[in-house]
Amino acid sequence: MGEAGKDAVDVLLLDFEEIATPIDLKGSPLAGEEQGRIRVIKDGGIAIKNGKIIDIGRSDDIKRSYKADREFVFEGKTAIPGLVDPHTHLVYGGCRHSEFELRLEGVPYIEILKTGGGINDTVKQTRELSEAELLELARKRLQIAVAHGTTTVEIKSGYGLSYEHELKLLKVINALAMETSVTVVPTFLGAHAIPPEFKDDREGYISLIIDRMLPDFKALAEFVDVFMDEGAFTAEETERILGRASELGYKLKLHADELAPGGGAELAAKLGAVSADHLVKVSENGIKEMAEAGTIAVLLPATTFMLRHRVYAPARKFIEAGVPVALATDHNPGTSPVISQAISMGLATMMMDMSPSEALTAATLNAAYAIGKGRELGSLQTGKLADITVIDAHSYIHTVYEFGRNLTVAVFKKGELIYEA
Ligand code: NIG
Ligand code: FE
Repeated sequence: MGEAGKDAVDVLLLDFEEIATPIDLKGSPLAGEEQGRIRVIKDGGIAIKNGKIIDIGRSDDIKRSYKADREFVFEGKTAIPGLVDPHTHLVYGGCRHSEFELRLEGVPYIEILKTGGGINDTVKQTRELSEAELLELARKRLQIAVAHGTTTVEIKSGYGLSYEHELKLLKVINALAMETSVTVVPTFLGAHAIPPEFKDDREGYISLIIDRMLPDFKALAEFVDVFMDEGAFTAEETERILGRASELGYKLKLHADELAPGGGAELAAKLGAVSADHLVKVSENGIKEMAEAGTIAVLLPATTFMLRHRVYAPARKFIEAGVPVALATDHNPGTSPVISQAISMGLATMMMDMSPSEALTAATLNAAYAIGKGRELGSLQTGKLADITVIDAHSYIHTVYEFGRNLTVAVFKKGELIYEA
C-alpha cells in the first residue's frame, strides 16, 4: 500500500522494543489474578490522533496503515502507560528534614504528631506563603514528577487547616491543574490534623469543616479525604465528615489503618469510598469488606520505607481477596519526600511481594480508577488518552529491576511530548 492509502494521524511512535500495558476490558480496575495479566507487544508502535490512541500493535502494521507529520522512533526503548500517582500532598511550604533526623534518632512519627509537630509544623510554614509562592513550589515538584514518568496526579490540600488557608491551597491545586497538561485531581483534606487554634476544641474545627468548608469548596475538589488514625481523627469524626461530603456529592477517600488498626478499611467500604489508602494495619475483616464493596486499596510503600517501619501493607492478601491494588508515592514533606512512582513500584515488588506486572497495573490503570480517571486513561488502548512514558530499557521489568535509576527518556501527555531527557 502506498502513502496514499494510509490514514493520516497526528503522531506515530514507532519501533519500540516493547510496549507493556494493563488491559481495561470491563471499565473497572483489575483485581485478583487479572491484576498481573498485562499485554506485552514486541516491536510495537502507537498511532495517535486528537490526543488519543487510535491504534496500537506491531510497529510494521502501524507503519503500513498510518502516516503522520510527526514520527518518533524509539528503538531499544519500552513504552508503558504514563504513570498515575493517586495520593500526594504536593502543595506545601517549608521543609521537615530536622524531623527526619529526630526519627533517625528513634523518635516515632506518631509521637511527633501527637506533640503538635509533624503535619502542624508544615501547616505553620505553609500559612506563611502566598498563593503565588505555593504555586511556584508545586509547579517545580510537578515537573520533577513528570521527569519521572508521571502524567496524572492527585493532590490533596491539608496543610492550611483554616477556612482561609485551605481555600488558598485548593486554589493553588486548581491553578496548577489549569496551567499544566498533566491531569490533576484535587482532593480536600481539611481533616488532616486539628490545627493549633482548635487544640482544645476539636468539635469546633470539625464543625468548621462540616458547616462551612465542605459546602463552600465543592467547586474546587472532586474528592474529600480524612486522616483517620491514632493522633488524628477518630472513626466517629471521620464518618460525620465523610457522610456530609458524600451528601454534597464529593467522592470519598480515606487515610486508613496506617499507624494503628482502627477499622478504617471497614469504614471506607461502608461509606462507599473509591479508595482506602495506607492500610498497613488493616484487619482481615477490613480486607473482606473492601473486596465486597469494590474499594480500591491505595498502598504507599515509600512512606513505610521512609518511616523505617518494618512491616508493609499486606498487598498479597488484598490481591488474593480480590481487592484491586493501586500504588502511590504519598509525596509530602514529612513521611515521604519520594516523588517517583517507579520507586513505589520497586518497593512494592521488593517489600510487598508484588510481581512487576502487578506493580505496573497498580501504578497505572488501578491508580487511575482510584481517582476516578480509569475510563479515560491508565492503559495503552484504543480510545484512551495518549499518555505514554518511554523508558530506556528493553522490558518494562527494568522499571523495578533498575531500582532508583530514573529510566524515563520521554513523556507524552495527550499525544504531546511534554518531557525529553
Ligand atoms: O499520608 N498520614 C497522613 N498524612 C501524610 C503525612 C503528612 C505529614 O506528615 O506531613 C501521609 O503520610
Ligand atoms: Fe497521605
